[in-house]
Amino acid sequence: MRKLTLDRILQSQGFGTRKACRALIRAGEVSIDGQPITEFAEPLAPQGLEFTVHGEQWAYHEHLYLALNKPPGFECSRKPSHHPGVLSLLPEQFAWRETQPVGRLDHDTTGLLLMSDDGAFIHAHTSPKRQVPKIYVATTRDPVTPALVSQLLAGVKLDDEPAPIGVQGCRQLDAHRLEIVLVQGKYHQVKRMLAAAGNHCAALHRSAIGDLFLEALGLEEGHWCHLDVSQRALLSHGKEDAEGSGILES
Ligand code: URA
Repeated sequence: MRKLTLDRILQSQGFGTRKACRALIRAGEVSIDGQPITEFAEPLAPQGLEFTVHGEQWAYHEHLYLALNKPPGFECSRKPSHHPGVLSLLPEQFAWRETQPVGRLDHDTTGLLLMSDDGAFIHAHTSPKRQVPKIYVATTRDPVTPALVSQLLAGVKLDDEPAPIGVQGCRQLDAHRLEIVLVQGKYHQVKRMLAAAGNHCAALHRSAIGDLFLEALGLEEGHWCHLDVSQRALLSHGKEDAEGSGILES
């Protein structure tokens, strides 16, 4: 990776315009290895660079690949209309970097949500061709029955779909909870399927995407973390990255 001047590095990391980043540097607000850096003429290797801004520690990331444990009451949109947006749960620098949710969860759905500023990654992970399983835990209003499980596996008719749609996997967890595996990501799919099967989804939580399990990340609700290369590889569930998204780079 080519070297960049510190003002450009800060700009790429979401600290504002180049002018604003230069002002931060000149004001002595940026340190590397505990030393304030007030010059930006000398190019630096950005990969692996750690720095502080206003005393807060940051590490350089060419792109952001984040996992968020989404709480209820947040919209998966860059321009939320009725509830706060999920971006408000991240550092504001990440919004500057045009980070966005990778796919959507309903505002009341909780659990694993990916966020990124890498267009190729977002495209690859939201493509309808991408048949990666996503695991949900649905809490139902009416008791779960073996008939409900069979119906969801066999397929239910949704209004705007020509043929019945079935889930990839389904098992009862307890009297009012089901684990459901989907490979498609249709609008309100779990809620609509449960309604079509004569029940009602009272709460919904996504516990995994591919082989990446939220529990393994140890994230409190509302918290996020960077996903490293091996964690991102789990998202593909052992499948080739057909679209060459660069998911496994850096
Ligand atoms: N299915 C739904 O109904 N809602 C979600 O948020 C995700 C899947």
